[in-house]
Amino acid sequence: QQQAPVWVQSVTDSTNSQLMQKLKDGVGLEKGAVLVAEAQTAGRGRRGKQWFSPFGCNLYFSMYWQLEQGIQAAMGLSLVVGLAVAKVLQQQWQLPVRLKWPNDLYLEHKKLGGILVELAGQTHAQCDVVIGLGLNIRMPDQTDKAVDQPWADLTSALGQHIDRNLLVALLQHQLVLELQQFSQQGFAGYVQAFNLLDQFAGEQVTLSSGSQTITGFCAGVDAQGGLVLDINGQKQSFYGGELSLRKA
Ligand code: BTN
Repeated sequence: QQQAPVWVQSVTDSTNSQLMQKLKDGVGLEKGAVLVAEAQTAGRGRRGKQWFSPFGCNLYFSMYWQLEQGIQAAMGLSLVVGLAVAKVLQQQWQLPVRLKWPNDLYLEHKKLGGILVELAGQTHAQCDVVIGLGLNIRMPDQTDKAVDQPWADLTSALGQHIDRNLLVALLQHQLVLELQQFSQQGFAGYVQAFNLLDQFAGEQVTLSSGSQTITGFCAGVDAQGGLVLDINGQKQSFYGGELSLRKA
């Protein structure tokens, strides 16, 4: 099978926005096509947050995909993306990456990267998605002023230079492989793999969504990728919200 293209830009507003725009303009994209940039002037995180995107340091990566199962599969898709990225980092550099539901990558309790899945046009049968990945490779000095939470980067964690071209090729390959499998088999086969890497497994957490907050113990994910919380001995699944550790 032929490899989908990888486009490289120097500076762009947001690699996700660029691919979303291409879709809006009706440009035909190949599944698995990737856009990376050296810097983003308007990098976007989840929940309308900015994503710190300095030049030449990190990875700003977006990939086009099409969900044949339709929009209801989007939750599972974003977890599968996290698993694929974790697998690449584990296989290539033996890094013990953990995942925070629904789509953060952690290394030793610090954020290493994040995933932003955006849905473009949809019909009942299928839906276009742009999968954005921001991965910290070598954060510049003074990053703490720009980032509001503890962070990790690959260069410090490994004490070696990271070849970003190699990383992009490995990620594209692994993502296409896993997403093809996900398209055929759905999320159920990934539940165990996710639970093994779950950063918050067994922890007492708070899930907030709008003004609502729910407290419970993390009990893994369900067959759709929903978060299962154990609330006073009752298991309940959730499909949205922001998770945080409950402080003692
Ligand atoms: C998060 O943890 O909040 C998700 C961060 C996603 C950042 C990436 S960087 C490449 C792509 N383009 C964007 O504007 N955002 C994503």
